[in-house]
Amino acid sequence: SQAPVITVDGPSGAGKGTISHLLAEELGWHFLDSGALYRVTGQACLIEGVSWDDHPAVTRVARHLEVTFTAADNGEILVAYKGRDVSREIRTEEGGRGASTVAAIPSVREALLARQREFLQPPGLVADGRDMGTVVFPHAPLKIFLTASAEERARRRFDQLRAKGENVSLPRLLEDIEERDARDSQREVAPLLPAEDAVVIDSTALPIADVFAKVMQEVSAKG
Ligand code: C5P
Repeated sequence: SQAPVITVDGPSGAGKGTISHLLAEELGWHFLDSGALYRVTGQACLIEGVSWDDHPAVTRVARHLEVTFTAADNGEILVAYKGRDVSREIRTEEGGRGASTVAAIPSVREALLARQREFLQPPGLVADGRDMGTVVFPHAPLKIFLTASAEERARRRFDQLRAKGENVSLPRLLEDIEERDARDSQREVAPLLPAEDAVVIDSTALPIADVFAKVMQEVSAKG
């Protein structure tokens, strides 16, 4: 495909989701939330009664994943598995655990590869994930790697959950984030690492508007 792609990779809570949504909207491009594919795979296993440790069975679930993304009126993206709305379930802490467990299985990543590449359609794609610039779209002309300290990411998640009325503990969230970081960066297949040619942006002390301005500068610089 001749359509351009911008990859946005980084650890959870660095602001990738927000930045890639803004970017896709600004450019009028398609959007790939690759994490959602792993989350739905984990959720589909729960629904189908498949254990996350049964690698061949999880791989079959991934290969035949009937997933749809639809934009709701409020701009939110609804995610459905076999027509059943799983948007809420996949965003829970358990959903995150399932995603990162099945994402560590090489044959699951392989099974989701072609599906992720199908999102690359004119006029262009913003791809959000961990290995968008390293594995899925290695030829992307612009690769962003967005990071922030674990403490800052835990704080942001804390604020988000509190705003939703959830009762959460900051130390517990920090622990979860550090655990997930370790799992994502130490796994053998597609570990979380910036591509050699990625532009690394640390958002620890930067408001989202400043991060977005930096990203737009990089986009303009690429013409
Ligand atoms: O981005 P999100 O937090 O939704 O991703 C959930 C999990 O899916 C991550 O913790 C990671 O383990 C996995 N993932 C991945 N590769 C991607 C996107 C997500 O391994 N491209």
